[in-house]
Amino acid sequence: MRILLVGATGTLGRQVARYALDQGHEVRCLVRSLSRASFLAEWGAEVVKGDLCKPETISPALQEVDAVIDAATTRITDNLSIETVDWTGKVNLIQAVQNSDTDRYIFFSILNADQYPDVPLMKIKHCTELFLQESGLNYTTLKLAGFMQGLIAQYAIPILDDEVVWVSGENTPIAYMNTQDIAKFSIKALETPETEKKSFPVVGTRAWGAYELIDLCERLSSKSAKISTVSLTVLRLIRRVTRFFAWGQNTANRLFFAEVLASGKAFEADMDNTYETFGLDKQEMTTMEEYLSEYFTRIMKKLKEIDYQKNKNKKRKKPTVPYKNQF
Ligand SMILES: NC(=O)c1ccc[n+]([C@@H]2O[C@H](COP(=O)([O-])OP(=O)(O)OC[C@H]3O[C@@H](n4cnc5c(N)ncnc54)[C@H](OP(=O)(O)O)[C@@H]3O)[C@@H](O)[C@H]2O)c1
Repeated sequence: MRILLVGATGTLGRQVARYALDQGHEVRCLVRSLSRASFLAEWGAEVVKGDLCKPETISPALQEVDAVIDAATTRITDNLSIETVDWTGKVNLIQAVQNSDTDRYIFFSILNADQYPDVPLMKIKHCTELFLQESGLNYTTLKLAGFMQGLIAQYAIPILDDEVVWVSGENTPIAYMNTQDIAKFSIKALETPETEKKSFPVVGTRAWGAYELIDLCERLSSKSAKISTVSLTVLRLIRRVTRFFAWGQNTANRLFFAEVLASGKAFEADMDNTYETFGLDKQEMTTMEEYLSEYFTRIMKKLKEIDYQKNKNKKRKKPTVPYKNQF
């Protein structure tokens, strides 16, 4: 199958590209920067330049494509707003697919997006779900919670570096999933007609709260975390301030998530129907313990190697005092 993948340089997109190639599919990636995507070409993907916000670049990429997987979203560091990329850009993509010879479309949404109309990204995700349902396309929507990959920067690295770990006072447990597992669901959807024109939750095996994650990281790293809590009121204030600046628009939008996390309603879902329909096994999904344990084992080994190398160099450098015997 030839797949057009959008967002292939991202956290999830690169795992979708890797898995699709491993499964023998042809993968064409629509990317904004060819240099940022050079690793995809090395993996064997076809890389074409394009941008969701430039509709004229989308149609040529859809030539002779059997399915589209959309893993794109606004980068927090980008000066394009979520309205521009996640709404206008996605509408451009969906309309281009409607005018092409393919009708298969995989979309990544966010779990419970319909329940937060005041949170801009949630509202946009929900509207896109509805737009797809009315588009006539053969879509499958995968509703995600959070990525295990994001926990490394949030908890693991600050704990290893003795830096502060920020925790929102009102924290909600989240069923994080490994993006490598999410990638499997997206490719399996293309092979499973029962997933067509349907939406499914695709989330981890259980929900984890911030303090549980910190405990686990402390155990695996044998280090203590320096925890600081930040209240919802402070986050709301930061959001109000950042909203005034063009550069702060995306930050402000992300901070709206504080509202979602403050709801206290666990970000998790029953996955029995999803596993059954996709023919995937829960036992094969990465657990949080496996994911973080693998990370810490790898990083601790690396740190030990660096320490060993440093000590070796120190010993080597022990000066042979020049001309010692001449004085
Ligand atoms: N991260 C999470 O925890 C989470 C949770 C639930 C759902 N999701 C959803 O999962 C999907 C993937 O998220 P992610 O975190 O992997 O994203 P990410 O790492 O932020 O990557 C975003 C991708 O979108 C591309 N992109 C941005 N603007 C674009 C444009 N105008 N035209 C074409 N491509 C563009 C970026 O390309 P460049 O390299 O050019 O910037 C990058 O490849 C998204 O739909 C997201 O909403 C994520």
